[in-house]
Amino acid sequence: MQTETQTQNLVKLDNLLDIDSLKKAEIEIILDHAVSMEEVLNRDIKKVPSLRGKTIVTLFYESSTRTRVSFEQAGKILSADVININNKTSSNNKGESLYNTALTIQAIGADVVIIRHPHSGAPHFISKHIKTSVINAGDGTHAHPTQALLDLYTIKKKVGSIEGKNIVLVGDILYSRVARSHMWGLSKLGANITICGPETLIPNDFIKGLKNISGHPFSNIKITSNIDEGLKNADIVMALRLQLERQQSGHLPSLREYSRELGITEERLKKSNQNVIVMHPGPMNEGIEIESNVAHGVNSIIEEQVTSGVALRMALLNIMCSK
Ligand code: CP
Repeated sequence: MQTETQTQNLVKLDNLLDIDSLKKAEIEIILDHAVSMEEVLNRDIKKVPSLRGKTIVTLFYESSTRTRVSFEQAGKILSADVININNKTSSNNKGESLYNTALTIQAIGADVVIIRHPHSGAPHFISKHIKTSVINAGDGTHAHPTQALLDLYTIKKKVGSIEGKNIVLVGDILYSRVARSHMWGLSKLGANITICGPETLIPNDFIKGLKNISGHPFSNIKITSNIDEGLKNADIVMALRLQLERQQSGHLPSLREYSRELGITEERLKKSNQNVIVMHPGPMNEGIEIESNVAHGVNSIIEEQVTSGVALRMALLNIMCSK
């Protein structure tokens, strides 16, 4: 395992708010560091003292299983003190503003706050007002950088280099913070990306908008609404969760129709490359965006994504607390 001094020399990261602002080399350093964290996870006694005396706060205003639990697990394995705050039990219920909650977390001496919030930009907002490091654990439809990083890590473990691999993101692009973070991360690492979804869930001028960003890395992104075309020659298929809680605006005729047109089935996967890997950031709507036998089939690495999430988040916490 890398020592603290080696980690300090690797990369300095005050906050992780999105993937956009990470350089390719920084992404690679985080992924490499996760390899040594995974070695800790494979030991009989999964405990190292790296973050003894550090305090990590998870502040979740939206539901979560994977992200919150894996951050807590990552912090505890590294011997940090982990405090969990959620929307139901926090003083947010008494009308406290996000600003004052952030100041309170800073005042108790937290080293890192990990925030999930339904509003895009909430992590950026608090990072401007507190010295405590901020990690974005998913904000509105904007970004989910640790999901993208853990998926990049999982893909690399499975297929080696990401450069030149064909990856298709299938589903609800409009509302997917995972898809947005992936477009940055996968593009920076040189993947060929296809976005596949109903036209109503692929925002107008999506790629044009991205390409207006100065210094953007997006050169290899295609869009299609035809699942067979999307899956053709894919090395990696990532089904995105159909966000049922955000589907009140008539974007879909019905879930059955969505499933029939775009659901990932064994039959459809035959269009992909032979050793295609199937991913899903979770939580899954099995039987809607992905068939159960695909989700749990031989090509699926969905559970590995979750395991990788602990190693990746350990790497991130270690790097951020060692700055
Ligand atoms: N992928 C993801 O963010 O899952 P949770 O909502 O369970 O954290």
